[in-house]
Amino acid sequence: MPRKAQPEWTNPLRDPHDRRLPRIAGPSALVIFGVTGDLARRKLMPAVYDLANRGLLPPSFALVGFARRDWAHEDFAQVVREAVEANCRTGFRTEVWDRLSEGIRFVSGTFEDDEAFEQLQSTLADLDRDRGTDGNHAYYLSIPPNAFPVVLSQLRRTGMADESGDSWRRVVIEKPFGHDQESAIELNELVNSVFAEESVFRIDHYLGKETVQNILALRFANQLFDPLWSSHYIDHVQITMAEDIGLGGRAGYYDGIGAARDVIQNHLLQLLALVAMEEPVSFSPRHLQTEKIKVLQSTRNILPIDLNSARGQYAAGWQGSEPVVGLKDEEGFAADSTTETFAAMALEVDTRRWAGVPFYLRSGKRLGRRVTEIALVFKRAPHLPFDDTMTAELGQNALVIRVQPDEGVTLRFGSKVPGSSMEVRDVNMDFSYGGAFTVSSPEAYERLLLDVLLGEPSLFPVNEEVELSWQILDPVLAEWAASGTPDEYESGTWGPQSADTMMSRTGRAWRRP
Ligand code: BG6
Repeated sequence: MPRKAQPEWTNPLRDPHDRRLPRIAGPSALVIFGVTGDLARRKLMPAVYDLANRGLLPPSFALVGFARRDWAHEDFAQVVREAVEANCRTGFRTEVWDRLSEGIRFVSGTFEDDEAFEQLQSTLADLDRDRGTDGNHAYYLSIPPNAFPVVLSQLRRTGMADESGDSWRRVVIEKPFGHDQESAIELNELVNSVFAEESVFRIDHYLGKETVQNILALRFANQLFDPLWSSHYIDHVQITMAEDIGLGGRAGYYDGIGAARDVIQNHLLQLLALVAMEEPVSFSPRHLQTEKIKVLQSTRNILPIDLNSARGQYAAGWQGSEPVVGLKDEEGFAADSTTETFAAMALEVDTRRWAGVPFYLRSGKRLGRRVTEIALVFKRAPHLPFDDTMTAELGQNALVIRVQPDEGVTLRFGSKVPGSSMEVRDVNMDFSYGGAFTVSSPEAYERLLLDVLLGEPSLFPVNEEVELSWQILDPVLAEWAASGTPDEYESGTWGPQSADTMMSRTGRAWRRP
């Protein structure tokens, strides 16, 4: 009789220290609060399915939705199925879906409803007993921040946050994590009064992106770049997260938040920390956090803030060949909304390595195109033994980490133009993921959800990182709050004039990716 294959997560032949092997989650249930939201539909449910399809979830896995809708388990399963079919990455396979859907449950109720939470508790107890989820529960709070306190206190009241024996309880928190440093500290205290810090997983989905994790490989697995990675050779760093989409349909979340709180406080400052940090002692979560925290502690605003920051709001214009309206004409935004849809700021990292090197961060909606990149722009050669005309077209050397969408790394340097004359011009040497690897990259949420279930915290910012990021941002937000309204920029352009002026004042210019 053929031997029954042992589930991989209990297979004694697997060397748990070999990090090349796929890691498979153990028995567990994932509870999503805010399951009717956009994030759940576009990212979370498809990511759960993609993990199942890749064989990274155990057969006993369960997915529990909690929301106000009056749905039966089957109705919710149908909602999940539609979300998966529309958005999954790895292709829909009926046999995978059938197995996954057996573990799908729904609990109907509001966050204030004690009975609904008791219902959730008994649903989880049934799953533990009948499906074998073993008391391991992750609670994903994909809900508005004002609902965090009530949900956390319900989890505490019902004992659903308490671990017993070998079982674990974890909480996953979506941003925005507070709206300034003070509220972030309060929120951390609240969360830590219910869950121990090692059970708290704050999502910054940029850290789940392959290209972002590759920053550490590029820097610390190679000898080539490290000698150049400092103020000796680098003139400045530009971190750009540009989007071409607008904010139609997102007023509820975005109005009053703006670009700086939405993405600079988290994604862009995390990118800065990874680029600027020193080599960690090891890749253990604690050692990585230590180095990132040191960077954030050393990061300062370049003063005066008004001249070293810029903000804007998109006006009507074009997205590709389509005419689009300005923010104030998007549904849900007030005609006098001062929410910025573009934010830029200059920071410096006050360490021996980075002294005098500005880090320019910018992000915006309705810009020329969707692109996220980190460009390390090098100083000019101290001496050029050419006539000026020969190097008139030569720019500054740059190493560009292309985070998305055309993932890869570009090295830009000067090269002789072929011909009988001597003329030097910029050329690019490219590494692209598509060309170098045959496997496609997992979605950020696949990686992060798997890490939550595995209890692997490396890619999740800890409380101190979040609080320090707000400490960097708060003075800029205060300056802006005191200084009237954001400048307008035409949709489809690269932001307000003030952003260009902020750079040109230092003799530099933003890249046009
Ligand atoms: C989210 C922001 O964190 O990131 C959104 O709230 C933004 O405003 C999104 O659109 C962009 O994510 P990605 O992965 O498409 O760059």
